[in-house]
Amino acid sequence: MSAYADHIATVRARFDAALEASNFDSVLVYAGQPRLAFLDDNPYPYRVNPLFKYWIPVTQSPKSALFYQPGQKPVVFLFQPRDFWHAQAQVPKEEWQDYVELVIVDDQKKIESHLGDKLKDAALLGEDFAEPVASWPVKAWNPQALLDHLHFHRAIKTDWEVQNLRVANERAAKAHLAARAAFFAGASELEIHQAYLRAINFRESEVPYNSIVALNDHGAILHYDIYDTEAPADPARSFLIDAGATYRGYCADITRTYARDEKGFFQDLIDAVDEAQQDLLKEIKPGRDYYELHVSQHLKISAILSRFGFVEGSAESIYEQGYSSAFFPHGLGHFIGLQVHDVGGYLRNDRGDSYDRDVRHPFLRLLRPVEAGQVFTIEPGLYVVDQLLEDFSGNKDFNWDRIAELRPYGGVRIEDSIVVGENGNNENLTRDAFEKLKN
Ligand code: GLY
Ligand code: MN
Ligand code: MN
Repeated sequence: MSAYADHIATVRARFDAALEASNFDSVLVYAGQPRLAFLDDNPYPYRVNPLFKYWIPVTQSPKSALFYQPGQKPVVFLFQPRDFWHAQAQVPKEEWQDYVELVIVDDQKKIESHLGDKLKDAALLGEDFAEPVASWPVKAWNPQALLDHLHFHRAIKTDWEVQNLRVANERAAKAHLAARAAFFAGASELEIHQAYLRAINFRESEVPYNSIVALNDHGAILHYDIYDTEAPADPARSFLIDAGATYRGYCADITRTYARDEKGFFQDLIDAVDEAQQDLLKEIKPGRDYYELHVSQHLKISAILSRFGFVEGSAESIYEQGYSSAFFPHGLGHFIGLQVHDVGGYLRNDRGDSYDRDVRHPFLRLLRPVEAGQVFTIEPGLYVVDQLLEDFSGNKDFNWDRIAELRPYGGVRIEDSIVVGENGNNENLTRDAFEKLKN
């Protein structure tokens, strides 16, 4: 069986179970369509419904839909309007077409007339802001029980999904190297961003999230995406880039940090965070809690804070007093797949019960036990975020002079995506992708 054949069999089985558990006969998955800007006739970039691309790797055919009734072949209504204003995205002959009934429609009303009475028993998964879809007489829109069931099981990736994630990482790694070269050549943030896109031949709307391209102290702004158009007068001393790519609808999410001065203290700090991240990777095994990994990473970051003299005390005391959260405020990582922040990280089971968020770590997006087949990021960071440090002003455990030395560099983050193996034999999609580029 091919990897895709196995994937779509898994998706069918997951929908069978989810439909049965939520008491629906069938489902209509709407691909979505672009929204128009307010009072305007220009659309925002289109993003396909992730549950549509879960079935088939079609990401640029808005207004299409997929109908599935357990036991029957899925029917894909591929929307190809007769329109002399716009070009149609080409949908080449590909393997997925062997596993569905393909119906080309040039008018969405034909989807309704084709399905007839079946619509009234179907759950519709998708956005409902536009006619005629908004008036389709379906049984329910986005029922939570059906979504929860599907989202819970999406955490375990099929081999085909992992293959796609591998290629997405290879694309992103290639672009990261181009961005790195642009940084060392003295480019501005915008020029680095452009070098990144050029390296993979992407338009900006194709990257899975706004790339974070941050020189100097901008690295401390966690989601920095307002690029300076001019390079700094003095060559930038540091560079943090968090940027991804997609392949067949699957996402990469990679962060690297660079120092211009290979021998300075900032390079030492990057090396320390990198080592702490790789040490943490060794702890990933089925049965561990992701939350425990997050705490373990905090202790390693706390040890760095102590060793580099930013904060006084043992790693345990730095963590226990909440000091490390001022420097590493975000979560250790998140599921990744069809979405960069893939769904289901808080779900305890497929009935929709969720884990309680932890007040100490409110931004941690993943609270589930680690299982083989999950794919998630591991992305520790250490930054000078003045807003967070204000809470500790005057605290004698903080070495403010030392922190002031780090401030102009922003901070460090290192982010890889990991496929969990059965016995700790995990796959690092990101480091493997960079390694492959060396060959
Ligand atoms: N790029 C967003 C994140 O790392 O979660
Ligand atoms: Mn991430
Ligand atoms: Mn990221």
